[in-house]
Amino acid sequence: MDSILVRGNGPLHGQIPIAGAKNACLTLMPATLLSDEPLTLINAPRLSDIRTMTQLLRSLGAEVTSLQGGQVLALSSHDIHNKTADYDIVRKMRASILVLGPLLARYGEAVVSLPGGCAIGARPVDLHLRALEAMGATLELRDGYVHASAPGGLKGGTVDFDFASVGATENALMAATLAKGITVIRNAAREPEIVDLARCLRAMGAQIDGDGSSEITIQGVDRLGGATHTVVTDRIELGTYMLAPAICGGEVELLGGRIELLEAFCEKLDAAGITVTETEKGLSVTRGNGDIRAVNVTTEPFPGFPTDLQAQMMALLCTANGTSVLEEKIFENRFMHAPELMRMGAQIDVQGGTATVTGVPKLKGAPVMATDLRASVSLILAGLAAEGETKVARVYHLDRGYEHVVGKLSGVGANIERISDT
Ligand code: EPZ
Repeated sequence: MDSILVRGNGPLHGQIPIAGAKNACLTLMPATLLSDEPLTLINAPRLSDIRTMTQLLRSLGAEVTSLQGGQVLALSSHDIHNKTADYDIVRKMRASILVLGPLLARYGEAVVSLPGGCAIGARPVDLHLRALEAMGATLELRDGYVHASAPGGLKGGTVDFDFASVGATENALMAATLAKGITVIRNAAREPEIVDLARCLRAMGAQIDGDGSSEITIQGVDRLGGATHTVVTDRIELGTYMLAPAICGGEVELLGGRIELLEAFCEKLDAAGITVTETEKGLSVTRGNGDIRAVNVTTEPFPGFPTDLQAQMMALLCTANGTSVLEEKIFENRFMHAPELMRMGAQIDVQGGTATVTGVPKLKGAPVMATDLRASVSLILAGLAAEGETKVARVYHLDRGYEHVVGKLSGVGANIERISDT
């Protein structure tokens, strides 16, 4: 198993290219199941989660070819012979549930393993199932699997979400493209990854209105064609690397970054005393010699502050001037990075979904443990500004969502390396 060693090394300078979005690619890839014509995804990120989705789609009979070093994915579903998504793959990655809607919509049947719980929360899929029931599907939970059927095909209906779930919106949106009649999704999630999915589906021939708003309307069509689609920039990778110069000082340009992907986050950086400016190629983040100001943060669905940047923001606020309050409203167990940051000398009091962070002048390097994807990168960010050496263990979590972390950070002057523990 690998670890990452980070040594505080002062201000950072240079450019970091931002990859295509993991959370867009993970819903774009299952869209291939909706058509028997080829789908090509350009600007795909090279991550272990993408490889897991590839494994899943191939197990159903789809062809997935990785080109140009993995940045282009050529997908085809003209020969789907298996409609069962097996537990052995699904347990590795919850996004596997996103094959349910497309399989059911195109073939009238699907059997998908329930994903089970995860480090950051129980994460049920009830909203996904209710959405498909609203389109006339029959669903039965048996032996840890969802058995879904719609022998006559799905029918247009009204989907009313109690909560603006990203995954449930994506599943319902994909399924509705081939349903007979009109589907209206109310209280839909509005994330940029959903807008990107709708853009791709429209290129395949789908009729969709309202993506990016809370109400999406889909007129079902008989069949979808192929398309070539460029994956949207990864706003979570973007936000993560914006925090590197914020924490260490210096000036870094994030190539491909756009403020509209992260407005709520950029507002908090501004409030903390960090300067974000748009450049020709992306975004520039600068932190002068001034102190970081304490700010309060509450995570919310888009366009609110993203929960996937909460851990990284906490790393910044550990050395802010004053006390910050972070409220995690999306997942019930997403503060597992806090005890690890406290091992580095941070002062954090966690009470349920609220963490109170009292800034300290400087963190101190220590051996720490990654517990999930975003927690792992928050520990690396904290290590970039800490005194001495930080060793982050279990970085396989990191590989799920960040490509070339060591290369990207050392390229702007960070002292960071990956080591094998065996
Ligand atoms: C997506 O997960 C992202 N994953 C997550 O990113 C992200 O944290 C999350 O959206 C919120 O922004 C992918 O896109 C692959 P949700 P998803 O359905 O779709 C509850 C990362 O770090 N809920 O919006 O699973 C659920 O338990 C990952 O890249 C139900 O109760 O998120 C949670 O509390 C982590 N029933 C809340 O809603 C349901 O049927 C938000 O979940 C569905 C969700």
